[in-house]
Amino acid sequence: MTHQPDRRPIVYIETYGCQMNVRDSEMLGGIFRQAECDLTDTPDRADLILLNTCAVRERAEQRVIGRVNQLASLKKRREVRIGVVGCMAQHLRDSLLESVPDLDYVLGPDTYRTLPDLLSVERDERYADWSTDRGELYEGLPTWRDKHCPSAFVTVMRGCDMMCTFCVVPFTRGRERCRPALAIVAETERLMEEGVREVILLGQTVNAWREGEAGFGSLLRQVSDTGIPRIRFTSPHPLHFGPVELAAIAECENICESVHLPVQSGNTDVLERMNRGYTRAEYLEIVRALRETIPHVTLSTDIIVGFPGETEAQFEDTLSLMEACAFESGFLFKYSPRSGTRADREFEDDVPEEVKQRRLERVIELQTGFTRRFQEAMVGGEYEILVDGIGDRGPDQWTGKTRGNRTVVVESGEQLMGRLVTVVIEESGTWTLRGRLKG
Ligand code: 5AD
Repeated sequence: MTHQPDRRPIVYIETYGCQMNVRDSEMLGGIFRQAECDLTDTPDRADLILLNTCAVRERAEQRVIGRVNQLASLKKRREVRIGVVGCMAQHLRDSLLESVPDLDYVLGPDTYRTLPDLLSVERDERYADWSTDRGELYEGLPTWRDKHCPSAFVTVMRGCDMMCTFCVVPFTRGRERCRPALAIVAETERLMEEGVREVILLGQTVNAWREGEAGFGSLLRQVSDTGIPRIRFTSPHPLHFGPVELAAIAECENICESVHLPVQSGNTDVLERMNRGYTRAEYLEIVRALRETIPHVTLSTDIIVGFPGETEAQFEDTLSLMEACAFESGFLFKYSPRSGTRADREFEDDVPEEVKQRRLERVIELQTGFTRRFQEAMVGGEYEILVDGIGDRGPDQWTGKTRGNRTVVVESGEQLMGRLVTVVIEESGTWTLRGRLKG
């Protein structure tokens, strides 16, 4: 590394993609702090710039390549090294070094312990490392997180064994491995001592967590027993949602009744080609059980339109499933072929782009209606929010989340950060709600 020897190297980390990446970036920050580096929140002064990336759709990768090329202009003025780490690095490996000449390092998600090596002079040459380590759980590493934020991510498992045919994640994040419950509970308790009031348990298929005979329901109860005021988790897979998990969410007061349950498609044949492991009827049954067992549960989902071979009638099944489930929110995507996946090898990406786009617009329209109606129904109601941010429209604005994971903006001259407060919802916009403190 070619930073001036009379000062500490400065590292800038930019994060793309899922919450797992946000958590990993906190760990990367911790690793560099331990290696006596300073962290910065702008690329301008950095000696080393790392982009922690996502590979789930082609567009995510294109954005990062564009960003590397933009950041490379800094190289004209001074010494700076740029690295791509995470899923895109694992997916594209050394071909990324070939196609992006200004990129210096490409490092997969299992290589983070070696990152401080980037700072040693011997490592000045460009290189890629996509080695995998089935046992790597990054136990015992430091974290660098925003100490003011009352909400913290806790990784409970890494990798994924589900092998959905469209998905690149099993190839980028490797096989499933679970952290011991004891480590997860200890981390939660440590965070509580730092003032954290909410943990979000993370895993690519978070409810696939197990330890011997114990499954995710047991983990939820163990974390609940710490007494932390709020617990969330993401993302569960419909196949791993049993009565034990439902009962834990229903019975433990501190587990928020909000479940993100990706369905991907409403048609059984498409689900089978996606290798999701459930039928439309089975998914609907899980949703029925969730709504019945957990009063006021809010549900969100992920949907892919234009999967190979998806007919108009099959797409209509997705629309009717959305109607049947009335999700409070949805993340809606056009299918994007990913090299290395079974869908890319075995099926032709035969739904034309205009058709994908039209289908996407229809699901967006349908979902926006549900979200709007759901939010409008909240107006006048009282909700507990955990204040976790500062609003951007004027002074004394705070933002917080309801137990159902909706964002509420509230105005107050008091210092509310980190507090659990009750608000009365006064107004509903498309994405956010406005409320006033109940007083
Ligand atoms: N194309 C489009 N969307 C995808 N997702 C995963 N892989 C693909 C792909 N190849 C979506 C799924 C998943 C979310 C994180 O991203 O809906 O749940």
